[in-house]
This record gives sequence, C-alpha cells and structure tokens, in this order.
Amino acid sequence: MKLDIIAGARPNFMKIAPIIAALEKVSSLSANRRNKIQYRLIHTGQHYDKKMSGSFFKQLGIPEPHVNLEVGSGTQAEQTGRIMERYEALLLKDPADWVLVVGDVTSTMACSIAAKKLNMGVIHVEGGIRSNDISMPEEINRMVTDAITDIFYTTSEVANENLRKLGHQESKIRYVGNTMIDTLLKNMPRFNKPEAWNIYQLQEKGYFIMTLHRPANVDEETKLKNLIDEIVKGAKGMPIVFPVHPRTAKMLKGIGIEADNLHMIEPLGYLEFNYLVQHAFAVITDSGGITEETTVMKVPCMTLRDNTERPETITIGTNELVGTNPDNVAPYMEKLHNGEWKAGKIPHLWDGKTAKRIVEDLLNIDS
Ligand code: UD1
Repeated sequence: MKLDIIAGARPNFMKIAPIIAALEKVSSLSANRRNKIQYRLIHTGQHYDKKMSGSFFKQLGIPEPHVNLEVGSGTQAEQTGRIMERYEALLLKDPADWVLVVGDVTSTMACSIAAKKLNMGVIHVEGGIRSNDISMPEEINRMVTDAITDIFYTTSEVANENLRKLGHQESKIRYVGNTMIDTLLKNMPRFNKPEAWNIYQLQEKGYFIMTLHRPANVDEETKLKNLIDEIVKGAKGMPIVFPVHPRTAKMLKGIGIEADNLHMIEPLGYLEFNYLVQHAFAVITDSGGITEETTVMKVPCMTLRDNTERPETITIGTNELVGTNPDNVAPYMEKLHNGEWKAGKIPHLWDGKTAKRIVEDLLNIDS
C-alpha cells in the first residue's frame, strides 16, 4: 500500500508523530511486513514558521517531509484551493493508494477532496467529532472530510455514534483512542521548563496558562479586550502566562492591553508548553486539543467556547465550557479559587497505544 500522511497545521503534528513512529517500528522489526506500507509524509505548508511548525518536527522527532507543498497563509478558500491544486498535481505525477488525514484543519479537508476525486481511499484519524457549530471552519472541514472518508479511526464513543447517525457502516468505524495522547504520554518525561518560569517567578500550581486563537474570540477587538480584562480580574493577581498565537498577536497590537499579572509571550514549543500546563493552577483556552491534554494531566481547564466537539473532556475530564461571554468568566474563577473544581478521569483507550492499534489495522487493509 502506498500511503500518504498529511500534516498542515500545528495541531496536526502531535497527531501524526506517533503514527509515523509506529510505521517506522514495523518496517524495522519485520521483513515480511516492511513492504506492506510505503508511506510518504506530505507537509502542506499551511503553518510554515519555526514556532508554528519547525520546532514541533524537531521536538517530536518527526522526519523531514518527503514533500512540502508550501502553500503559506491565505483566506480559507485561498489555502484550500492552493492545497488541492498542488496535492493533485503531486498525485497525478506520483499516485498513492490511500491518504491518511488527521484532525480538522484546512489541509485535512483539502487533501481528502483532492485524493478522493482521484479515487484514492481516505482514512480520517479523529473522524466523527462534531461541535455542531457550522460557523467554525473546523466544523466544515470535519463534515466534508467525513463525508468522503472510507475508514474512520475515532477517539470517543460519541464520535462513533455521530458517524452511525450519519449512516456510516459499522465496519468503517474503528475506535482506537487518541494519537495526541500517545504523543503526550511519550513526551511527558521530556517536558522542559521554559525561560518564562524564572522570568515571571512562577510557582508550582500558582499560575494560569492561557491560549486564544478562535476567530469568535479574537477577531473582534472589544470582545477580546473584555474577555482578557475579566480573566485578569478573576485571576486575583496570580500570573497568567499567555503564549500568543500569530492570529491573536495581530489583533492585540491594536488594543494595547496591559496588566501586571498578564505575561504575553511568543508561541512555545511542545515540550515547554506542556510543562507549563502540567504545573499550572488552571488552563484557560479556546483550543480543542488542549482540553484533551488537560484531561489526561488532570489540570482544571476553562474553555472559552460555546460548544465543543470533545464532550468527553467535560463529562469525563477536567474541562468546563465557560462560553465566550466575558460575564461568564467570574463564577468559574471563583470555583477554582475555592478549590471546588471537579476531579476528572481519563477516557477509554487514551492510553498511549493508539498509533500502534492504527498501524496494526492498516497492515490488514488491501491496497
Ligand atoms: C489553524 C487551524 C485551527 C488550529 C490552528 C492552530 C484551520 C481552519 N484552522 O488556525 O484549527 O487550531 O491552526 O494554530 O485550519 N501564521 C503565522 N505563522 C504560521 C502560520 C500562520 O504567522 O506558521 C499566521 C497566518 O499568517 C495567519 C494566522 O497566523 O495570519 C492564522 O493562521 P491560519 O493558518 O490562517 O489559521 P489558524 O488561526 O492558525
């Protein structure tokens, strides 16, 4: 089987790393299985700079991509169009049998469409999750990708149920767990204290770490300012470390927020970011993936979104959906300060062995 593995944006890299490692392990262990899968790693170039892409490849030991489509920044349609054009051109020159996409970013959808139209099989890792909020570009990416997926590797029973409701056959749905958690558990012993720890004199369980990048939170100046003001107030002087995503940085330039306990820094590497998460009092985020990581590390997490495609992080894990209204922040902050946050558990099969299960299954697929 000739298998293309697609990675495009930051949250993809931790999901493909263990799959590639498991594929490499197979080929080094067994001669008769070695030739069953020949993989090619394709980076679309959706995220391209060192902080958003290069450092993740390095820290997670992901090999150099075989191909980089170098699509760069653009509007949703520009990026989608460029990825499809360039990936199709590659496939026409040098075809593959299957494409494996992960997550819900623009690259996930664009490569699935290009591949399917050339009659390749599509494998979606993290298929079936839904926020039911179609104003999010990621939700559209999930819906389109899943509509043309042949094999779903899923992270939760809710995802399985979503796919069944959409009429997908049971044989296509394979509940394997969460590859992002494979990466987390594997790298936990390597987590690395960033410079920010000493610079801001952080204390164990004595600070917040925050990330914000969703258009719903950051694309409107007043809203972003009100949200951050409420968070700063609610932190009651505890430091808030805020690695700022490039999208958010552009907006913040115009607003000029300042507070003694708010420390805005550049995006961090994987090992440094998760060090800060592991030792934090609590996390404040609008990311989806981070809510999975906080669930496994059992760190309280406030999600500044009105919905989530990862409900198990709330029903089982340490996450709470705070919403995007700045007025909602204070009561959750009180709960944290009063020590009333729930204790979470870890969802089934988020055990660090998901990529191994995926690769064992891939070995049984006819090309
Ligand atoms: C994308 C994903 C989102 C994911 C997020 C993580 C989609 C639809 N969205 O959103 O699901 O959670 O990545 O980061 O695919 N930029 C840089 N350097 C880079 C990459 C981007 O400066 O390496 C800038 C771009 O020029 C742009 C902004 O960051 O102005 C946003 O990047 P973009 O890829 O458009 O979307 P994200 O908001 O990052």
